[in-house]
Amino acid sequence: MKAAIVHDYAAPPRYGDFTDPSAQAHETLVHVRTAALSQLVRSQASGKHYSSGKILPLVPGVDGVGQLPDGKRVYFAFPRAPFGSMAQTTVVERCHCIAVPDGVDDVSAAALGNPGMSSWGALMGRAKFQPGENVLINGATGVSGRLAIQIARYLGAGKVLVTGRNAGSIEGLKALGADVLIPLDAPIEQLTETFRSILREHQVNVILDYLWGPSAESLIHAVSAHGSGTAEPRIRMVQIGSLSGNTIALPGSALRSSGLELLGSGLGSLSNEALLDAISGVLKAAAEGALSIEAEAVPLADVEAAWQTAGAGRVVFRV
Ligand SMILES: NC(=O)c1ccc[n+]([C@@H]2O[C@H](COP(=O)([O-])OP(=O)(O)OC[C@H]3O[C@@H](n4cnc5c(N)ncnc54)[C@H](OP(=O)(O)O)[C@@H]3O)[C@@H](O)[C@H]2O)c1
Repeated sequence: MKAAIVHDYAAPPRYGDFTDPSAQAHETLVHVRTAALSQLVRSQASGKHYSSGKILPLVPGVDGVGQLPDGKRVYFAFPRAPFGSMAQTTVVERCHCIAVPDGVDDVSAAALGNPGMSSWGALMGRAKFQPGENVLINGATGVSGRLAIQIARYLGAGKVLVTGRNAGSIEGLKALGADVLIPLDAPIEQLTETFRSILREHQVNVILDYLWGPSAESLIHAVSAHGSGTAEPRIRMVQIGSLSGNTIALPGSALRSSGLELLGSGLGSLSNEALLDAISGVLKAAAEGALSIEAEAVPLADVEAAWQTAGAGRVVFRV
């Protein structure tokens, strides 16, 4: 079969011939129609993600939309290595296939899955979000952050606050439902003061963090200054992405002195079943017209060039 193939973690995948998979017990073959190029897929294919495949060559791709042998159209996830979703055929556990609502096309469904899950899973699965709560999204200008705004709104957020490093990019987030825009370009102490007053004024309950690094440290310092005899407010901060740093300096006192609850959301902190439940919710919201995403469909044969030039999260390969 034709597939994108990773031969070397340091190089983009090449289009070529790969062995056909066969299904074992509890598995099904999927005839792939679309497969998304998310940050997760890029990171896995570079060998740097904690879930990267250890044996080369491999076919990249964690999810997509395809057809089951009985003709049913499904969103599928977690192919069995070395088979990934960027191939004519892949193999997944049958329970890792979910129906795609009729109103959602193959390209949109593939594009929505992983980035949409990032906030839906974090809010519902990890933060136990309740309608009416206020949500701050740290690093909201990427594909996942833009969906996070819309998903927080869809799930009933009171206010949605967003941060970004680029004033021009965050301005556009108002149209997606952001109420408060916070630029990250201030010196760090000033940023911490800004966060401190904004968290208090807008009574933020949940922080979704796509950045980690300095701005996450700053948020934690701002929260920890809330310390009082009431152990309030409880602020659940969910770590989702590390666009600006893999590590932070975390003073123990930040956790002792405040209602801060530090959580993570991703492969491993939510079960595969919970991740798929989140994606079902995302697809249903999309079918209701509540979510918009800009996705560019590219033929899989062009994988090598697209990998080097395209922004992750915006490209969906058509197989
Ligand atoms: N845990 C999960 O379940 C999960 C799922 C999906 C994604 N993620 C992670 O979430 C992160 C975002 O993913 P994505 O899909 O949104 O990626 P993306 O669409 O590629 O986001 C990139 C955008 O983020 C902004 N950005 C990049 N570096 C930044 C920095 N240092 N400070 C502030 N903003 C920065 C940039 O916007 P501007 O150029 O406009 O500033 C950039 O265009 C990634 O780390 C990804 O791996 C996690």
